[in-house]
Amino acid sequence: VEARNIEKKNIKIDKNAIPNSAITLINDIMTKGSYEAYLVGGCVRDLLLGETPHDYDICSNATPSQIISLLKTLRYKYHTVGIEFGTVTAIMQDGNEYEITTYRGESTYTDGRHPDSVNFVSTIQKDLVRRDFTINAIAYNPVTDNLIDLFGGRRDINKGVIRSIQKPDISFKDDALRIMRALRFAIKFGYVIDMTTSLAINRNVDLLNNISKERITEEYKKIFSYNKPVLQVFSQYRKVIATTIPEIVPCFDFKQNNKYHKHDVYKHTLHVVDKCNTNKFEIKMAALLHDIGKPSTCTLGDDGYCHFYGHPEVSYEISQKLLKERFRLTTEQYELILNLIRYHDITIATTRKSVKRALNKHGLDFLKDWFILKKADADDHVYPDNNWKYMVDIPKIKEIIQEILDENACFKLKDLKINGNDIMKLLNIKPCEHIGIILNTLLNEVIDEDIINDPNVLKTRASEIYKEIS
Ligand code: CTP
Repeated sequence: VEARNIEKKNIKIDKNAIPNSAITLINDIMTKGSYEAYLVGGCVRDLLLGETPHDYDICSNATPSQIISLLKTLRYKYHTVGIEFGTVTAIMQDGNEYEITTYRGESTYTDGRHPDSVNFVSTIQKDLVRRDFTINAIAYNPVTDNLIDLFGGRRDINKGVIRSIQKPDISFKDDALRIMRALRFAIKFGYVIDMTTSLAINRNVDLLNNISKERITEEYKKIFSYNKPVLQVFSQYRKVIATTIPEIVPCFDFKQNNKYHKHDVYKHTLHVVDKCNTNKFEIKMAALLHDIGKPSTCTLGDDGYCHFYGHPEVSYEISQKLLKERFRLTTEQYELILNLIRYHDITIATTRKSVKRALNKHGLDFLKDWFILKKADADDHVYPDNNWKYMVDIPKIKEIIQEILDENACFKLKDLKINGNDIMKLLNIKPCEHIGIILNTLLNEVIDEDIINDPNVLKTRASEIYKEIS
């Protein structure tokens, strides 16, 4: 495994990038409490990279009760939600919150999530050694400008390498989620995973079966939120993908033998994930699963090519089950992913009628996400003879949508200038199934532009329809 050839000389932390309140808090812990305190973990890594950390974690040799009494003396607000893991959170006047965690040593994770016991240690060195990767095990004190980098974290940031601190077999046994974290950091920063760590990932991949679906879901969510290419990492570490999503295994190396594809199903899937230009997890996840039904629907046609009739529906069914069993999603996330999969192969003609029908059936928000997946999927197809029949003209459809929205055109029941009450009054009838039939017929006729969306026109037509159906 070749390390990325980047040479950022002398990477240093820009102290001005650190919020004043973090520096004040560390200073107070040191001077008013006489304890040690350092920024640690992801924030130090990000500061060294010149990126803005999303949070700042502090570690200290003070115990949680010592931290609490210090914060009380200093009249800081705080909460103790994480106290069982040695964490007290200080709430600063500027609204920033900082987790202060007492130096901790190795722990076992029976449930793969929470340490079985919190094992406080006396030195920062012992705290750093139990962490996952060298790039995540650097501590920095912004008051004294002291940077503690015991395992070559800066060297690895320079080289672009993810490397376990201790023997990776031990590190992954301590917390198997680190296997997914290694992939995630490699994707996020475009780094390579060092050879020893890499071999251990493949050796220990089964340990991921002990990790809760919440934590696996979180990792996938984070991976996809970066909108960075996953193709290389998801190919090289496909055992990790196979362990977390076993249903995808039949897609590996499954040749499409079809004039519209140049990649096997799994490779195509990964190309589509990467071509989805979004940080929206649901779209990327749908891209990863959109063709999962292809292997089981493959038939050989008389033309000598493979066909995958009905694969979107089968992909939908397989995904329905696997997303329920293996991921923890909100109902909205679940439904959006599934609908994107189910409808990934539909086409929309570039006519007002067709676009209005699509808006009616799917809604604008869904279509916006669908365009991203559809374009990505289309971009990884081959179009022999430049046959555009298979392409959806997305720019033209967007143009038509804009036109429809600008003129406030009617494409859903709510937009009709008549409602159920109006119809009951007009026809002097009580609530019954006829009302729904009349409204839907009117809507279809308005969408088709056979009649205009005008109350009087609609009333006249409603009376006619009522006569026809009653
Ligand atoms: N850590 C670890 N092993 C884990 C999880 C976390 O050693 N399984 C340590 C690492 O030192 C990590 C720190 O705890 O840097 C904080 O973890 P977390 O907040 O999950 O990740 P970050 O490294 O901050 O990265 P990011 O938030 O950007 O994902």
